[in-house]
Amino acid sequence: MEIDLTDQEFALFQQLIYNESGINLSPAKKELLKSRLVKRLRTLSLKSFKEYYKYVTEGDTTGKEMIHMIDCISTNLTEFFREIAHFNFLSGKLLPALLEKKRKNKEKRIRVWSAGCSSGEEPYSLSMILNEHIGQINTWDVKILATDLSTRVLEKAKQGLYHKDRLKNINAQLLHTYFRKGGSHFEDYYQTTDVLKKIIVFRRFNLMEKTFPFKGQFDFIFCRNVMIYFNKQTQSELISKFHKHLAPEGHLFIGHSESLAGTNSKFKYVIPTVYQK
Ligand SMILES: C[S@@+](CC[C@H](N)C(=O)[O-])C[C@H]1O[C@@H](n2cnc3c(N)ncnc32)[C@H](O)[C@@H]1O
Repeated sequence: MEIDLTDQEFALFQQLIYNESGINLSPAKKELLKSRLVKRLRTLSLKSFKEYYKYVTEGDTTGKEMIHMIDCISTNLTEFFREIAHFNFLSGKLLPALLEKKRKNKEKRIRVWSAGCSSGEEPYSLSMILNEHIGQINTWDVKILATDLSTRVLEKAKQGLYHKDRLKNINAQLLHTYFRKGGSHFEDYYQTTDVLKKIIVFRRFNLMEKTFPFKGQFDFIFCRNVMIYFNKQTQSELISKFHKHLAPEGHLFIGHSESLAGTNSKFKYVIPTVYQK
C-alpha cells in the first residue's frame, strides 16, 4: 500500500532534520525524503509518516531512530583524491612548509581534521599523502580526526574495504604500498593497510554541536561538500568555529562549489577553496 507524505508532514521533517543536522531540505527534496524514509516505516511496521515522526521524536527514547533517519537522508558521495588540486597544494606547498616549521620549532605533533569524512576516502587520501611526505612517521605524533554524522558511512570507513572501481584515482605505487587485495571472497576488493589506518581516528560527530570538544588545535581542516547542505547562518557559525580550532596560519579546505562569501569570516584567501587563518 502506498504511504502518502503530506506537505504538512514534510514540513515537520524539514524542521526536525534542520534542527538535528543543519541540513536544509528544499521542497524539491520531498519525493527523495519520502522514498528514503518509507523503508524505515516498513521496517518498523508503521502506517503513516505522522506515526513515524511521533516515534522518532517521542517514542524512541534511545535516540537510535534519529541516527537511522539522518543516515537515510544524508548524501555521502565521495571519492579518493577528490578535487586533486587540494592534494597537489598539500604535497607541493603546505606540507613542506609545515614540516619545516615543525622541525625548526622541534615540534612533532600534526593534527588534521576531515570533517564530514563520509565512507573514508578523504581521510585515507590524506593519510597516504602524510605517510608519503613525513619520513619516519612513527617518530612523529600524527593524527587525522575523521568525523561524520552518519554511523552507516563511518562503519564503512572503519572497515576500509573498497571495490576496485572506487580506486581508479589511486596510482599503482600508492595502491601497492597502502592496500592489500581482498581474499577469495573479495577478489574485486582492496583493503586499506594498518599503516594508513594507524594515524586515523574515526568518530561520530555532529557539526551542529554548539561547542567543539577539542583541546588542541588543527594544522589543517578539510570540510568539503558538507556545508553545501547548510544555510548561510549555519555556515557562518561553523566557519568561525573552524577558525577558532585551527592553529595560527592553519588552513581550511572547502568543496569546489562552496564559498566563504557572505560568512563574515576572518580567513585569508590562498587559492580557490583554500583559506588560511
Ligand atoms: C557529500 S559527503 C562529502 C564527503 C567528503 N568530505 C568529500 O568531499 O568527498 C557529505 C558528508 O557530510 C556529512 N554530514 C552532513 N551533515 C553533517 C553534520 N551536521 N555533521 C557531520 N557530518 C555531516 C554526511 O553524512 C556526508 O557523509
